[in-house]
Amino acid sequence: MAESQNLMEKIVSLCKRRGFVYQGSEIYGGLAGIYDFGPRGVELLNNLKKSWWQANVYDKENFYGLDSGMFKHPRTWEASGHVGGFADPLAECRTCHARIRVDKELANVGVTADEKMSEDAINELFDQNRDKIKCPVCGKKDFTRAKAFNLLVKSNLGDFTSEGAEPVYLPGEACQGIYLDYKNIVDTMQPKVPFGVAQIGKAFRNEISPRNFLFRTREFEQADTQLFIRPNENKEAYEALKKDRWNWYLSLGIKENKLRFKQHENLVFYAKDAWDIEYEFPSGFDEVEGIHDRTDYDLSQHMKFSGVDLNYTDPTTAEKYIPWILETSMGMGRVFLAVLCDAYYEDEMDGETRVVLKLAPHLAPVKAAVFPLLKNKPELVEKAREIYSALKKQIPQIMWDDNGNIGKRYRRQDEIGTPWCITIDFDTLGETPELKDTVTVRDRDTGQQTRVPVAELSGFITSKINL
Ligand code: GAP
Repeated sequence: MAESQNLMEKIVSLCKRRGFVYQGSEIYGGLAGIYDFGPRGVELLNNLKKSWWQANVYDKENFYGLDSGMFKHPRTWEASGHVGGFADPLAECRTCHARIRVDKELANVGVTADEKMSEDAINELFDQNRDKIKCPVCGKKDFTRAKAFNLLVKSNLGDFTSEGAEPVYLPGEACQGIYLDYKNIVDTMQPKVPFGVAQIGKAFRNEISPRNFLFRTREFEQADTQLFIRPNENKEAYEALKKDRWNWYLSLGIKENKLRFKQHENLVFYAKDAWDIEYEFPSGFDEVEGIHDRTDYDLSQHMKFSGVDLNYTDPTTAEKYIPWILETSMGMGRVFLAVLCDAYYEDEMDGETRVVLKLAPHLAPVKAAVFPLLKNKPELVEKAREIYSALKKQIPQIMWDDNGNIGKRYRRQDEIGTPWCITIDFDTLGETPELKDTVTVRDRDTGQQTRVPVAELSGFITSKINL
């Protein structure tokens, strides 16, 4: 346990030190559960999104991309069930006022509280097990009754001072935008069932105890696909989706033995079946993505609340039905963290211990760093600048680095996961005539150095990224 905590601490520290992730509002003392992605982090995040979009829009024939507005009509969240049912049961410690999630604390002592349980039912279970549950802060066992605490984040929009105005909410889950635009997509794109809609969008939850760095935050991004299928044709399509999503994680270079599927025993209010893809984080296996069989729940609810007919009409048979929905919903922050945990190594190279992120080249925030061997030799700097500028036009994620000696530059690039370091030396200038216009390319994982002609550099890197 201590070792795994240590690994998480090392990752948090590397993220700060190397510009991947910062605590949100840090100069004001921070804001719990909110993080900012720094210059290296945003590149890794964008690479992840690009890979996800490729797999879920471009590689599929019948999937459509979407970017819906964050604010939605207030009735959206009533129809979705979030206003009434999206709540955690919380109790307060009477001694130190810390709040606990009663369902989680019950689970820790081996008691399962059904997600659909009423407040009274969960309190009955709580009362039966109070002697086993200690406050994680002060250790006392004196708690208030459990009360449902809604996770939706309320906001206001326009003038809501007038009487009877309804509150607007920040999205509790990004997928609702897809349901609200389902009719627009059907009317404008004329897709044939089965078809899918993919979206990466922000979600906000009033998590009572944000924890484990990016794992549980109050603001996060979800990458969702909703597959619209014929009623009752869910089984085969569900299995195919699970397999497809599993393979995407492998394409990120994540080790297969660090992944597993877990079926939900207690289903959330909208799901008929639910499986998670879990990653083994330093704190143990935990959810990165949920794959849910949502049946016709969402479209039926929105049809009922909006009064708009959301039936799909089969273009061949004219049959009308409400499509069922199979959902995949992945937390971007969680997959970001999983990728970092998986890529983090401390090993020995050139007689020194180094920290290295062995990121898949297509995910690395910097694909290659270009160095002049010595920064006080203008002829080397000039040639290196020329090579750097030409390469950057073809591969934007290229970095210039002339700070410190070559060893220090390698260590710095290893820590941010740069797969290749390119050094321009006197041989590049023609000191050894047969090596003129070649550079040294050093491989991050093996430390091996090869001589590559300048004219082939871009092809050398892109062929490996595209692998
Ligand atoms: N639309 C379905 C849905 O929202 P969910 O299981 O609540 O389902 C899907 O969330 C994914 O969103 C999770 O697998 C997780 O990766 C991510 N997620 C959920 N809550 C999160 C939080 N507080 N912080 C970071 N990621 C979160």
